[in-house]
Amino acid sequence: MLALRCKESPAHCRYLSLVYLVKTTEVLKPAEREAPRLLEQIDPKRLPRHVAIIMDGNGRWAQRRHLPRVAGHRAGVIAARNVIETCANLHLPTLTLYAFSVENWRRPKTETDFLMRLLREYLRKELPEIHRNNIRLIILGRVDVLPEAVRKDIREAMAKTANNTGMTLAVALNYGGRAEIVDAFNSILKQVRHNGSGTNAVSEEMISRHLYTAGLPDPDLLVRTSGEMRVSNFLLWQIAYAEIYVTETLWPDFDRVKLYEALLDYQKRERRYGGLGAPEATRESA
Ligand code: FPP
Repeated sequence: MLALRCKESPAHCRYLSLVYLVKTTEVLKPAEREAPRLLEQIDPKRLPRHVAIIMDGNGRWAQRRHLPRVAGHRAGVIAARNVIETCANLHLPTLTLYAFSVENWRRPKTETDFLMRLLREYLRKELPEIHRNNIRLIILGRVDVLPEAVRKDIREAMAKTANNTGMTLAVALNYGGRAEIVDAFNSILKQVRHNGSGTNAVSEEMISRHLYTAGLPDPDLLVRTSGEMRVSNFLLWQIAYAEIYVTETLWPDFDRVKLYEALLDYQKRERRYGGLGAPEATRESA
């Protein structure tokens, strides 16, 4: 019915009809009924301190519905909002979302412009809620080369939430893992030059302190949606010991049930950090 009265382009009308359909069927989603049962199984004492997510599959989600790619990104924002809310409710200390990579500039200008606009729209609409939930927002990436309007919104959002003490939400924007390591080394060099000599070797701890993520715990869990088995230049230094969880689910379909499933899977893992597992270590030392 909505589509019949729609005065927009046919693709946009299809998108609006879909949003209408999704909204009206949301309450009936069978998977949502699973949520309380899954939540009960999560051990709150063994939650990851940092979950990092490669949000992939917006384009494919749209394509499967014969919608323009940008509709997938809009649906992706809704998924991001739900995941942020769920993580904050679980009292996860840190959530990082990979929103835009340094490589994403290779996409058509219409799409990159749209993504920048979408980010500003997101900040404008969601900032009050983020702030109300005591979430601290930070941005990881080469922010200084982004358009001034985007930089201004980012500065204001970060300043507003800087003293919040709940979850840290890190949005990776114009981010590249290699670029981050290069920036860290240049920052170390600058510091060494400034202080005169004194340091003649770098340490892991020193590198960590100069990364965009300085002060944050390394991710315990790295989630990637849409099934690709790649890390795509994301947090290369920090994911050294992260548990990786890849799901076929496309990002716009990644809801709180999917997040609970990822957390339950993580809690089944035995993390050895290159050492021996608990039973083996006991046997060896006996
Ligand atoms: C990948 O889908 C997703 C992105 C390029 C990032 C955009 C993410 C959002 C719009 C979510 C919003 C997040 C925040 C924090 C506001 P893709 O286009 O690469 O999908 P494809 O691989 O199917 O083409």
